[in-house]
Amino acid sequence: MGGDPVATAFYNALSATFPKGEAYFVESVRLFREGTPAKLAGEIKGFVTQEVMHSREHVQFNKRAVEAGYDLSPLEARLEWRLSITRGRPPVVNLAATMCLEHFTAILAHQLLKNPRHLAGAGPEDAALWRWHSIEEIEHKAVAYDTWLHATRDWPRRKRFKVKLKVMLFVTRNFIVDRTFGSLELLRQDGITGASAWARILWFAWVRPGMLRKVFGAWLAFFMPGFHPWNQDDRHLIAQTEARLATPAAEAYA
Ligand SMILES: [Fe+2]
Ligand SMILES: [Fe+2]
Repeated sequence: MGGDPVATAFYNALSATFPKGEAYFVESVRLFREGTPAKLAGEIKGFVTQEVMHSREHVQFNKRAVEAGYDLSPLEARLEWRLSITRGRPPVVNLAATMCLEHFTAILAHQLLKNPRHLAGAGPEDAALWRWHSIEEIEHKAVAYDTWLHATRDWPRRKRFKVKLKVMLFVTRNFIVDRTFGSLELLRQDGITGASAWARILWFAWVRPGMLRKVFGAWLAFFMPGFHPWNQDDRHLIAQTEARLATPAAEAYA
């Protein structure tokens, strides 16, 4: 990230979790494919293909972080521990967790594409990887949600909302705590520790460029009555980014 240790730690911490995290999304959604209407079944297939490709590319990205001297194993171990707890819960809870995390990735992706500042310091290839991933997260943002709607179609509204609320609050807390932990660990490996590390990562995540603060409104929308991921139609961001990715990097975000 252009030599910025804080931005580097933030994105490396995020990428470190993708291979295992996305494999978990795939297994959680796949379990509910049987019996879904043909359209949704096809979308689940597309979702699986996209997530598998993301994992493949982030494995390469993570390899480069390791080659650059970072040890990602503490971050992976923490995720393994989280997943081992979640996997012990009923499949529908895992589907709910995936549905919530997919809302999270979709709103982060939206923000990443909308505001070029987030990746301003990234090299062209790294920026392209994050933008491509963001495009696809938006493309399939409703698949886990629609699968959840189908899986819980016989549930009373109240129960549905209660589970959705509880799981979203739970995964949000874990997401923020774990990614902060991961970023702090990577900063520590860069020799940045203590109050300075905390202040710099919190500033980066919440103030400037403030990715987490900027997605707060979209996060909140999840709890509104009648919420559906496509209530926010952000396909224009996909088209815009695809056009930019097709132009030489120097001109695209000039
Ligand atoms: Fe993904
Ligand atoms: Fe996804």
